[in-house]
Amino acid sequence: MSARQVHLRVLRQDDPGLPGSRRWEEFAVPLRPRMTVADALLHLQQHPVTTQGTEVAPIAWEVSCMQESCGACALLINGKPGIACGVFIDTISPTGKPISLAPLSGFPLVRDLVVDRSRMAADLVQVRAWTQLDGLHDQGPGPRESPEEQRERQALSRCISCGICLEACPQIHEGSAFVGPAAIHQVRLLKMHPTGAMQAGERLERLMGEGGVADCGKAQNCVEVCPQRLPLVTSLAVLSRDTSLRLIRRWFLGAD
Ligand code: SF4
Ligand code: FES
Repeated sequence: MSARQVHLRVLRQDDPGLPGSRRWEEFAVPLRPRMTVADALLHLQQHPVTTQGTEVAPIAWEVSCMQESCGACALLINGKPGIACGVFIDTISPTGKPISLAPLSGFPLVRDLVVDRSRMAADLVQVRAWTQLDGLHDQGPGPRESPEEQRERQALSRCISCGICLEACPQIHEGSAFVGPAAIHQVRLLKMHPTGAMQAGERLERLMGEGGVADCGKAQNCVEVCPQRLPLVTSLAVLSRDTSLRLIRRWFLGAD
């Protein structure tokens, strides 16, 4: 009896400057129990042979942790953004239907399934998503926090910068300045940190102009797709309220 196989249709392109090289290639991979899309792609790295029997260049894709912790393997799986190492073949193709794999479409293509997600870092810079240290000297212990506060922040600190929320957001497109839900979520997280909160005003300023929180169209796609199940809509609502209050205080009191 022949082993069960899964068929993967992979959208490939050799170079972003060569749209003519864009093509679908189909591969058959022997199915193993609890095999993920990332496992199948790893198999193809060793055996890059199409279903027509043609040996091709190995598929370019990104992978690192293989445990849904780094965000590197984000791509479109049957047209939906997902984490390749977190999606089991059996759950998306129980009847053996071919699975399509394509690069995230909201980021510049590098090659095959690899995209350039450097805008994720640029968005964090835009909102100043860090705690500011005053020099390198010992500043003593930081403010004390209760275990409850630590637990609350820990639960919100699981963003893996996969970019899937940006992929799903209709407000993120070429020419849009919106920083997106992941960066806005970090602003909320830093506001909850006793040291990070010291620069909360500066971060709010960054979210009050073009590309800030008011650019959110409230589609709520981000919270649906986030593999870390972060409460992104709540974070957007919190920051929307904070920026509005800051504006009102400025109008009526002339103070921040
Ligand atoms: S917020 Fe969620 S979907 Fe967005 S980058 Fe972070 S982990 Fe990925
Ligand atoms: S390889 Fe790290 S999330 Fe998939």
